[in-house]
Amino acid sequence: MDYNKIFTDINAKLSSYKDDGAVASYIPELQRVLPNKFGVHLCSVEGMNYHFGDSEEKFSIQSIVKVLSLTMAFEIEEDELWKRVGVEPSGNPFNSLVQLEYDEGIPRNPFINAGAIVIADVLVSKLKNPREDFINFVRHLSGNNQIDYCDRIAQSEKSKGHRNAALCNLMKSFGNIENNIHEVIDFYFDLCSIEMTCSELARTFLFLANYGKDPVNGNQIISSSKSKRINAVMQLCGLYDEAGEFSFKVGLPGKSGVGGGIAVVHPGKYSMVVWSPRLNKKGNSNKGMRFLEEFTSYTASSIF
Ligand code: DON
Repeated sequence: MDYNKIFTDINAKLSSYKDDGAVASYIPELQRVLPNKFGVHLCSVEGMNYHFGDSEEKFSIQSIVKVLSLTMAFEIEEDELWKRVGVEPSGNPFNSLVQLEYDEGIPRNPFINAGAIVIADVLVSKLKNPREDFINFVRHLSGNNQIDYCDRIAQSEKSKGHRNAALCNLMKSFGNIENNIHEVIDFYFDLCSIEMTCSELARTFLFLANYGKDPVNGNQIISSSKSKRINAVMQLCGLYDEAGEFSFKVGLPGKSGVGGGIAVVHPGKYSMVVWSPRLNKKGNSNKGMRFLEEFTSYTASSIF
């Protein structure tokens, strides 16, 4: 399929689309991003690449990293992990505190902030040098040694990170955080600060489109069973309280971030990343979702 032409056609179709979304402002540094940026990149499991727009520009991947931190923690912790974090959609905003109280400190899933903070805690417990070991893992997945944290973004979020600190403290009070809360939360902010382009991120997610195996170099990153499970959690929880809407409209496992990126995978076919920084009220990219909806409709390719 000529995805380059399809991207151009969809972009033309959306030229009159009025995007009333706003760039994330609760992380001060994210406000500096130009709101009308738009990029898309698709990697097929056969090794083909297709792109459109600002696909080679770095952006803050934010919550999309939670798929990668889960992948690493799942390899280390296996079954124990799922005693500390669930796999159910939360139906609540990504930074909500309410369910944690009556769920006794067990987050509903690893993609809401509380769940990702537990995953960060697991990595702090199990890795010798969490910051270094994690970025090396991402570099391994992406085949790119230049991928890095952005200290400017991480510091900016740390300066306003009271809500995440509250989540971490609440879970600590229930005994679901093992390490020093400052160490865990700092590591969590570092994870969210990683910057990548659409093409780098689509390449990084390719193993999830190929049953856990990187089709470019043949490395088995995780088992096909774990790949299935991670994709299942993305399908149900990857877009927070908009996961149903995203499934309904797009029909692929996906993960969003407040930097405006959305990564999706079509198992057996492709991984794809769109980036458009204007967000809707749920913190998901407005045009990114719209573009993906058009794409899976146009190509009649969803998992359903
Ligand atoms: O913890 C936060 O609030 C951010 N670092 C990540 C949130 C995020 O990306 C939610 N995604 N839509």
